[in-house]
Amino acid sequence: MCGIVGYIGKEQAASIILDGLSKLEYRGYDSAGMAIFDGEKLRTKKAIGRLKVLENITRGGETLPGCSGIGHTRWATHGAPSDKNAHPHTNAAGTIAVVHNGIIENYISLKKKMADKGYSFVSETDTEVLAHLLDYYYKGNPLETIIRVLQRVEGSYALGILFADHPGEIYAARKDSPLIVGQSALGCFIASDVPAILKYTRTVYYMDNQEIAVLRGENISFYSMDEEEVAKESATVDWDADAAEKAGYEHFMLKEMYEQPRTLEDTLSPRILDKDGEKDIVIEELNMTAEELRAVRKIHIVACGSAYHAGVTGKYVLEELARIPVEVDLASEFRYRNPLLEEGCMVIVISQSGETADTLAALRESKAKGFRVLGIVNVVGSSIAREADACLYTWAGPEIAVATTKAYSAQLAAVYLLAMKFARVRGILADRDFAALLADLKCLPDQIELLLGQKQKIQRFANRYLGARDIFFIGRGIDYAISLEGSLKLKEISYIHSEAYAAGEMKHGTISLIEDGTLVVAVSTQPALYQKMISNIVEVKARGAFVMAVTNEENREMQKVSDYCVYIPETHPCFTNSLAIIPLQLFAYYVAVGRGCDVDKPKNLAKSVTVE
Ligand code: G6P
Repeated sequence: MCGIVGYIGKEQAASIILDGLSKLEYRGYDSAGMAIFDGEKLRTKKAIGRLKVLENITRGGETLPGCSGIGHTRWATHGAPSDKNAHPHTNAAGTIAVVHNGIIENYISLKKKMADKGYSFVSETDTEVLAHLLDYYYKGNPLETIIRVLQRVEGSYALGILFADHPGEIYAARKDSPLIVGQSALGCFIASDVPAILKYTRTVYYMDNQEIAVLRGENISFYSMDEEEVAKESATVDWDADAAEKAGYEHFMLKEMYEQPRTLEDTLSPRILDKDGEKDIVIEELNMTAEELRAVRKIHIVACGSAYHAGVTGKYVLEELARIPVEVDLASEFRYRNPLLEEGCMVIVISQSGETADTLAALRESKAKGFRVLGIVNVVGSSIAREADACLYTWAGPEIAVATTKAYSAQLAAVYLLAMKFARVRGILADRDFAALLADLKCLPDQIELLLGQKQKIQRFANRYLGARDIFFIGRGIDYAISLEGSLKLKEISYIHSEAYAAGEMKHGTISLIEDGTLVVAVSTQPALYQKMISNIVEVKARGAFVMAVTNEENREMQKVSDYCVYIPETHPCFTNSLAIIPLQLFAYYVAVGRGCDVDKPKNLAKSVTVE
């Protein structure tokens, strides 16, 4: 949440910062601002609303000349979206400017202390206290001052700081909020995420917790909180810049849905061994011997949002294929419920961004209790990727749309690989069954492609529901997990109220909400449960529901009981989620487009949730 960009070098900073912020708007978009050093002083401009407003009032950055600056796009936590609450925040003299992502948890007591010392506050933000603290302690040495301030601060932060009397420098610091530093012939950059600077450089440094960086146009130094210089290795980002562009698609979400076949291919194929008669799943990153894998007695999956939904599918698939008991928790619940982790259990955290605050906290909690944590993560070098004992990367590439599609699909693929690996080493799957599963796994990318080809049909159907008040999703077993994700997709981008229900649970309450014409999306991909689902469909139809079924090609009986059918190609029942989710993503997308919603940047949401 909140995006930060900073630049110091030979070029005009404002236009580089605006361009970078435009790649970070997925992190927050209720206001934006910049502070630029113009050769004499710091000049700050901020504006409520999308980045466009800031672009307009600064004429694309032209009215803020200068070669060093910091910028911010905000997702409001403390204080409503407004010009005053927008970052950067400055001291009263306007000689120190700060942009911040994270939360200063003790800001109330710090604010009181500063107010008692005569400092007055113009915003309601937690961040402003930093600007005044920096002012209070500043005696001419920025590094020393920043360390003193950060020692008094509790909470999380990624910071970009400018001091007017040190015009050749940008200072940056981080704790529990992401921040990278980039370097190129043009100059040096700070950013919350790689896409912001990908156009200018692929050479990046991943800052560690409680590290401070000093950028001086051509060189960068890193320091610990003891003011000791830290040697750091740079990393090379291997995405190409187009990966973070729309490439002719109307929205990132549509483009990312279309990237799903490739994403699955990239996540699966390096880990599938199928040659010379030898068939296996090879996950070297796991760093566990077959014996260690066999010793795992229970798995806890912990995640948030769609990653949690991938975890719910994971529970069904791991239990079915590998016969290991699995518990799935929302990270925000797990971290505060003093979970019982018994010997032999393994914790898996799933996260696209690798920065979700609750998921990261759950990881740390589990590690502190002495348990091995595996991360399933998309963003290379992110906090979860680095702090987990092992990291299985989902090779989805940059995902920009706030509503996840391809990263979720890649998370499913990662979960299938793990389930098959566990099943294999535990000797649960016969060779023939393993080979059949492998064959089905390999077909998924092409089958997804096929389903994406149905977009016009789904669009026509979606257009009939633009005015819906409520839409329900029902399913059993894995189909319940798909329903959770289908419902979330719809509500997060179209703002239509939606709920997902385990189909058998409908009649314990939710069925009272079914009225004439209410759309119920019934997912039925599990042959063993076809008949049970048909009973549930008949029940809602008897109350007036209009039923859209998503089911397997073979299940032609569904046509008789439902009003509209979407068929998915044949696959193993454990993998149907990867196929059934495609029409549901397309449905959510076209309902949102039809309603004129900002699909890629739904209101009140942010892609990377770095606050609790
Ligand atoms: C936010 C995003 C969701 C995502 C969730 C977890 O709510 O909007 O799309 O599923 O965070 O994020 P993570 O990066 O941990 O997967």
